[in-house]
Amino acid sequence: MSYYDELKKAVEYIKSRRVPGPEIGIILGSGLGDFADGLEDRIGIPYAEIPGFPVSTVKGHRGNLVFGRAGGRKVAVMQGRFHLYEGYPIQKVVFGTRVLGLLGIKALIVTNAAGGINENFSPGDLMVIKDHINMTGENPAAGEEIPELGPRFFDMTFAYDAELRKKAKQVFEEAGLEYKDGVYAFLKGPSYETPAEIRMLKTIGADAVGMSTVPEVIAARQMGIKVLGISCITNMAAGILDKPLSHAEVLEVSEKVKEKFVRVLCSIIEKID
Ligand code: 6GU
Repeated sequence: MSYYDELKKAVEYIKSRRVPGPEIGIILGSGLGDFADGLEDRIGIPYAEIPGFPVSTVKGHRGNLVFGRAGGRKVAVMQGRFHLYEGYPIQKVVFGTRVLGLLGIKALIVTNAAGGINENFSPGDLMVIKDHINMTGENPAAGEEIPELGPRFFDMTFAYDAELRKKAKQVFEEAGLEYKDGVYAFLKGPSYETPAEIRMLKTIGADAVGMSTVPEVIAARQMGIKVLGISCITNMAAGILDKPLSHAEVLEVSEKVKEKFVRVLCSIIEKID
């Protein structure tokens, strides 16, 4: 079966479950899955029930596509995402994003856990993503051209929507919360970077580094969907502090920040028109 046929089959299955057509898609990173539990009129579909959908293998990532309402808006939330480091081809990594796009979302909010490179950052900070650097050489739009998913060549100048970023910043300011703004570098993982790699990333303009988000953002932009990205800085990247990195720390900090993150997310959704 072709990729597009697989996507259509997943979309048909979801529609057969009679879920409300979503306006906004949300992809939740490590430890942030709780957001989906608080939706009104919640209908959760396990990824395993959706034909063609991959199933996430990472601790802290649950596997449900959850439909419901948040801040008065119809949303579809991916509780758990897919990563290149899990061994999935990049088309599988963005399968959920493509499905959300075909279901008609107009905006996508992507969240992640990231390592801080910028020395002004601290663990627990939230960073509004202003741009990204793809260090993997992989691109979800490469391969057979599928006109239904968007044009062959497409602009990435305004990948992170200025209006949505402004709204996100207003939410932080109104809540009296500090936020950061920065460039996210995407690496395959699953090893964290070496100190030399982090020095390189800093030199080329990255403020944070992680193993997700960029494939979904590229796929969404190809489909003409507006994007907002927010990173939770869970730890400082290698060589910034004189200590090793651990996945336990990533989970611990995202657990602590979760409540603030969920609150901010709800208020941002309310502001999206
Ligand atoms: Cl330091 N690097 C990467 N690639 N991903 C991360 C991270 C660092 N911290 C959290 N996620």
